[in-house]
Amino acid sequence: MEKLKHVISSRQFKDPGFLLSLFESAHQMERDDVFHALTDPLRGRILATLFFEPSTRTRFSFEAAMQKLGGGVLTSENAKANSSATKGETISDTVRIVSGYADAIAIRHYEQGAAEAAARISPVPIINAGDGVGEHPTQALADIYTIKKELGRLSGLRVALVGDLLNGRTIHSLLPLLCLYPGVTIDLLSPAQLRLPPLYREFLAERGVAFHEGERLEGVIEQADVAYITRVQSERFVSRQEYDAVKDVYIIDAETANRLKPEAIIMHPLPRVNEISPEVDANTRAAYFKQAKNSLYIRMALLKHLLA
Ligand code: NCD
Repeated sequence: MEKLKHVISSRQFKDPGFLLSLFESAHQMERDDVFHALTDPLRGRILATLFFEPSTRTRFSFEAAMQKLGGGVLTSENAKANSSATKGETISDTVRIVSGYADAIAIRHYEQGAAEAAARISPVPIINAGDGVGEHPTQALADIYTIKKELGRLSGLRVALVGDLLNGRTIHSLLPLLCLYPGVTIDLLSPAQLRLPPLYREFLAERGVAFHEGERLEGVIEQADVAYITRVQSERFVSRQEYDAVKDVYIIDAETANRLKPEAIIMHPLPRVNEISPEVDANTRAAYFKQAKNSLYIRMALLKHLLA
């Protein structure tokens, strides 16, 4: 696959071979990290993290990734309040300026399409680190990498996606990647108000991917190889009552977790609220903390691909 310029949507990834080479690179990064053998391929390069929405994992893992590769970071962790956005500067102007100081920009924004708009005017690579209810492609890369690492394969898997499928951008980015592998079956489990938007359902249908929609975990998660749980995205609701009505619909406790196949894995992009009880953390199926760690190595591999 030719070199990527920007990473805006996971629909850009059409070649499983490219993903495999990214996974190999991520795995190499992990080995080198563990043995303190990392080299500095990005020495002298700078990544700017321009975050207009809260983040812990995504921003820290991008910044750690850049620094572990020998590069530097410029960070704006609360760009909505602390950047010139408060003075009325447009995102385009901000990106134009920051691209003069940095070699790549990871941007998280509350508006869907913001990263794409930034990419249109940016001379340096733009990485979408979450655009409102749109996408979060680098999380999806970490998710797919985690599945491959934990289960050894991606083809033929049955994947249950659970929770806020309407607003969950990690889901929107994960689906196109799952579609790259033959024989994948997808169960979409959500309350009726939080169903996957038609755009993504059409995408699955066009790709000929088998999917089912439902509300109840019972009878579905017992079949799953991967149960991917998501947080109900409180920040996207117009009223507190609407959020309260759905916030705790799915709770994976020890009893539910044990109904999964022994070799199945439980994933979550994190942060969690009540969707997975802490008692599940000790379950051998819990893969969400590994998933968060894997995101460091996949971001290292991606930054190296974009910048080295
Ligand atoms: C996710 C996000 O920001 O979309 N978090 C993350 O990056 N791991 C998921 C979420 O906030 O629920």
